Formats: sequence, structure tokens, C-alpha cells
Amino acid sequence: MTGGNSFYKSTLLRAGNNQTVKNSVVPPHGFNAAEGFFVIAHRGASHYAPENTMAAFTKAHLMKADMIELDVLLTRDGVPVVLHDTTLNRTTTGSGPVNSHLSRDIAELDAGSWFDPSFSGERIPTLESVMKWARNTIALNIEIKGRSDTKSAHRVEEIVIDLIDYYKMRSSVLVSSFDRSVLHRLKQVEPGIATALLNGQYSYGTRRALRRMKKIGADGLNLLPRQMNKPLMNRLKQSGTPVWVYTVNKESDMRRVIRKGATGIFSNRPDLLRRVVMDEFQ
Ligand code: G3P
Ligand code: CA
Repeated sequence: MTGGNSFYKSTLLRAGNNQTVKNSVVPPHGFNAAEGFFVIAHRGASHYAPENTMAAFTKAHLMKADMIELDVLLTRDGVPVVLHDTTLNRTTTGSGPVNSHLSRDIAELDAGSWFDPSFSGERIPTLESVMKWARNTIALNIEIKGRSDTKSAHRVEEIVIDLIDYYKMRSSVLVSSFDRSVLHRLKQVEPGIATALLNGQYSYGTRRALRRMKKIGADGLNLLPRQMNKPLMNRLKQSGTPVWVYTVNKESDMRRVIRKGATGIFSNRPDLLRRVVMDEFQ
């Protein structure tokens, strides 16, 4: 499923609650727990290894996640790197905003020892290095952390599109963002890449989220569990719209979210989620 129109040849996949959704994204080797349902490792298997590092990503793959979610920011010289916070302080040995550092300096930082000394030496990966590893291995959800976070003239969405095409990953990548302008621009440049609009914790108007999703041409919604209200879920079900739900780490919550009709769940514990999914979809 490559090429400009891949989304329009959507595959119908089963989601929670036995519903079918229009979804052009599939893991390279098929689903590990239930056909059509995505076990998504949030920032990798981030309960077990430092978030957004290769250690967390390889662990997620070993735990048989179907997709890895990661966060992307641009460095001062316009290189997309994988990090959640806009500053280096919390998860690395560096400090200050990512967009005020050059990529060659960022590559030297330790992104593992804050989590546990046994992970010292882990680096902040570039998006490209993760894609090179993932292309025949696992699907990716690339979360673009907002154009407003980048001082430069570099257009993060265009750089991401180029990488997706260079590594021929259209059929196994979903791009998401809280920033509507990023997704809008991406869809204008390349409508064939699947996108999902992230609904934040303070945006309680989920109807509005649906309207916004349609307006910018996004293909799905990323919601919090509490935003999965009945009227919205019914509407999404009727249109076959994928619903990706973040971030669920407790077994009872996972079961509830699956039964409400999620297409996929983001979890720091993909091993637990996979067991729950296997049980729920039996
Ligand atoms: O994409 C789901 C989730 O990752 C969004 O929140 O803060 O973990 O990036 P955050
Ligand atoms: Ca994220």
C-alpha cells in the first residue's frame, strides 16, 4: 500500500468492540495480538527502559508491540530527534531547549542514566535512525511536538514526509500532533500519509475535536479514556474513524477502553497490554 492514494485504499480492520475502521496503517509483519488492533508502546516500552531511546524501542519489539509511539522535535540545525520534552533537562545530561542545540552536540548526550545507571550510554536517537531500524520491523506513530516549538524556518512536517517516503514507510506510519497547523500542512502537502489529531486533556469538547479533525483532513483521533463518551464513539463508529487512546497502563482501564471500541492503545507496558488484548479478543 504505497503511493499517493494509499489512504483511500483503506483497509477495513477490526477494532475493539468488533467494529471495523478505515485504516491505512498496518504493522510490517501483521498484528501480534489481535487482527486490526494496535498494541502501541508509548515512547517505547517506557515502563522498563528510558523513554524514546533505542533500548525502549527494541524492548517494545521484543514484547511484540504492533507500533511504537515516539515524539519528534527539531534541533537548531533542523534535524528531527526523538525526545518528549522541549528541553533536554529531565531525560538527558544536557540542558536548555532542544532547538537551541546543534544535532552533533545532542548526539553526545546521555539519555539513559536518569532512568537507571544500567542504561548509561543510551543516546537521543535521530528520527532517521529509528526509521532505518523500524522500516521492516514495526509500525511507528510519529508525534510531531509542534511547529511552534521550532525557532527555525525548517518545516518539520516536510522533513518527516521526506523521511517516510525515503524509507518507504507510508503503509506503516501514523503521524499525530496536538498542533493542528502541523497536521493541516502535512495533509496539504501529502494527503496519502495517515494522520491523527491529538485531543489534549483540557480540550473537553470532543464534538469540536471531531469537527477539527474533519476540517484539517486528519484520518483519526487520539483521545484520553475519559473522552470516549457514547455519542462521540457512536459517531466515530458510524464513519469507521480510528480512535487511538492514550496512555493506559492499568489492566482494568485497558479492558474498559477496548470494550468501548478503541482501534489501538498507547501504553508504557506493551507486554501487559498484549496479554489483555489476547484475552479480550479471544
Ligand atoms: O500520543 C499520545 C501521547 O503520547 C500524547 O501525550 O505527552 O505522552 O506525548 P505525551
Ligand atoms: Ca507522545
